[in-house]
Amino acid sequence: MAKLTWGMIGGGAGSQIGPAHRLGAGLDGHFAFAAGALDHRAADGVAYGRSLGLPDDRSYGTWQDMLAGERTRSDRVDLVTVATPNATHFAITKAFLEAGFHVLCEKPLTMTIEEAEEIVRLAAACDLICAVNYGYSGYPLVRHMRAMVARGDLGRIRLVKAEFAHGHHADATDADNPRIRWRYDPAQAGVSAQFADCGIHALHMACFVTGQAVTELSADTVSCIATRELEDDAMVNFRMDGGTVGRLWTSSIALGNQHGLSLQLFGEKGGLRWAQEQPNQLYHMPLGGRLQVIERGEPNLSPEADRATRVTIGHAEGMPLAFANLYADLAEAIRAREEGRAMDPAANLYPRAEDGLRSMAAIFAVAQSGRNAGAWCDARPPMFR
Ligand code: NAI
Repeated sequence: MAKLTWGMIGGGAGSQIGPAHRLGAGLDGHFAFAAGALDHRAADGVAYGRSLGLPDDRSYGTWQDMLAGERTRSDRVDLVTVATPNATHFAITKAFLEAGFHVLCEKPLTMTIEEAEEIVRLAAACDLICAVNYGYSGYPLVRHMRAMVARGDLGRIRLVKAEFAHGHHADATDADNPRIRWRYDPAQAGVSAQFADCGIHALHMACFVTGQAVTELSADTVSCIATRELEDDAMVNFRMDGGTVGRLWTSSIALGNQHGLSLQLFGEKGGLRWAQEQPNQLYHMPLGGRLQVIERGEPNLSPEADRATRVTIGHAEGMPLAFANLYADLAEAIRAREEGRAMDPAANLYPRAEDGLRSMAAIFAVAQSGRNAGAWCDARPPMFR
């Protein structure tokens, strides 16, 4: 099978998330890394791209140069990943969609709901794939949770509890460190800090596994480190369109928590519990039964979990493999379009621009509710009301 080609904007030397994308995109051999504008310092980006093996004429200094260079090539890249800081996502994603490229954008999709709606409309009008990197949805047992809910194993889901609470910004004496301070500065981060950075992953996971969308929410947001303008902790209560009640806690001052991402579901016929730091085990409590441990890689899981599993049972599974599952889904989506066939339903799970838009609406609702003593707010984007 011919490889698809892939380009990246952002993810330069020393970036946090660039290496995970390169590992994820290349892991299964679906995508060959063919072009990039990797750094906000043009010369550094060009040099780093070359060091990663990009040809001289496809290691670009700026994303505008990459757009100009790629759009006229007969072998233009099949997919562009946008892994730059948040405030640049909208302009870059819009420009590449307008030029006819499929895009995978990092979260949050944009800085405002209006921008996210524009991206959703544009991708639909151009009939292009626009995905958002809620990469944790790529874990095999997360996909298995979704499959168990969809096939009714748990009955109606009464409650979902999602957490993304880490302790890496807990040091008040380090709050002015420039690598941390910008995240809590409204001019650079937007209306929300911790919820927009981490809480939306937990919220997306709650929606992904239940197959439901958030309708309204109430948020208690707080800056535990008083010099911060934006929240470093939030407790969000929410309601979903299938009747499920949601509870979400996100924090960056939870000392002792490392990554701190976990999800629990409580249905009429059973409960499920999964934590990202132990991704190979899913705990299932059937009503009236005994607690069971579902292991990644065991026989007779769902097609969605089987498709996303590479290493055999018992071996450790890393976070880039979850990203790799999104890239494998995107490769299947692009190929299905090119070949004029329906895509494998077990691959049709990558988060869409619509998910990015719903997150933007949730971010604004959390900020609004937090400012208004936890008043319940409509959390749906205007175009989905
Ligand atoms: P970072 O600050 O570590 O790296 C950003 C990279 O983008 C740097 O190499 C920088 O030089 C480059 N860059 C900045 N402006 C650019 C421009 N105009 N053109 C080309 N390159 C440019 O940031 P990090 O942590 O890697 O985050 C990047 C994005 O990924 C953010 O939107 C963040 O929210 C998201 N992210 C997503 C995660 C996930 O699990 N999905 C996890 C961590 C970050």
